[in-house]
Amino acid sequence: MPLLSLLDRRLVVITGKGGTGKTTVAAALALAAAEAGRKVLAAEVGLDEHLPRLLDPDAAPVGYAGRDLTPGLHAMRIDPYEALAEYVGLQIGLRGVVRRVLENHAFRQLMDASPGWRELITLGKIWHLEQMRDGRGRPRFDLIVVDAPATGHGLTFLDVPRVVGSAVRAGPLRRHASWVEEMIRDPKRTALLPVALGEELPARETADLVTRLRDEVGVAVDRVVVNALSADPFPPDVPDLDERLGAIAPDLAIPGSPGASALAACAAHLRGRFELNRRWAAVIADTTALPIVGLPRLANGARGADALRTLGRALLAAEGSVA
Ligand SMILES: Nc1ncnc2c1ncn2[C@@H]1O[C@H](COP(=O)(O)OP(=O)(O)OP(=O)(O)O)[C@@H](O)[C@H]1O
Ligand SMILES: [Mg+2]
Repeated sequence: MPLLSLLDRRLVVITGKGGTGKTTVAAALALAAAEAGRKVLAAEVGLDEHLPRLLDPDAAPVGYAGRDLTPGLHAMRIDPYEALAEYVGLQIGLRGVVRRVLENHAFRQLMDASPGWRELITLGKIWHLEQMRDGRGRPRFDLIVVDAPATGHGLTFLDVPRVVGSAVRAGPLRRHASWVEEMIRDPKRTALLPVALGEELPARETADLVTRLRDEVGVAVDRVVVNALSADPFPPDVPDLDERLGAIAPDLAIPGSPGASALAACAAHLRGRFELNRRWAAVIADTTALPIVGLPRLANGARGADALRTLGRALLAAEGSVA
């Protein structure tokens, strides 16, 4: 069966270990979707903002109010305290009073020590954004791409509505948690996109993450992104370049060039990285039984619209062709 396109979901939640490329993949997907004509929201969840600066290094923060980064691509940072002020303000009306209470130092200390509310309020805000309609009754956003916190936190993030649903028996909290849970568990609306690297530790943790997300949280996971894969370093007509360099007498001097043994060591290093990435990507495919979407390691880093477009193309290339 072909993969249901990421562009046809309402919500794609990007997750993975720290530093695997979650924000980069979120930005690449959001940009690709906007350029394919979707109205896109890129929502960054966390303390800092990184996503807007991938497109423009001088970009001012977008904050909770959000801003259009390019036509069709809106970005915001979901701050749980802002979302809480909005939620409570909507429920009881007194926004100014609510904001003053939430800014109170003692109240913040109490809230910082309380588990779960940040995740629930953040997901509640995402649900609200998914429900928003324009004047003609069409969704305000076709696709919401969420740059979720690194795992560890990623699982709790999506699991909180279920926990609340089973702990709270009635009332608005229960109702709101169940709306959020319904959204997370609808495979046509929501997909979780794990981002891993082709290296031992992220590869081992990805299989565990995918199993727990599918079985415990019930969210659709239909592919795994393996980011920053090294390209095959040798030209197709000399696939054994490293071996050939290794076979040259080490003391052979090539005028104006490093010695043969230095070249052979470089080539061996390149092959090592390439094969390591390939091996661990294959382990991820085996242990998750999911299609792998490989993204290239970009030699000049993954900043700027062109780099993000390259990654966006690779991200969507597999759709329609992967069983
Ligand atoms: N395909 C790629 N090629 C080259 N560099 C990349 C690639 N993907 C990401 N990077 C670089 O790797 C670094 C980490 O990427 P990114 O910030 O997207 O990771 P992250 O998972 O969001 O990190 P964190 O867990 O800290 O939020 C950045 O410097 C980014 O530019
Ligand atoms: Mg990030």
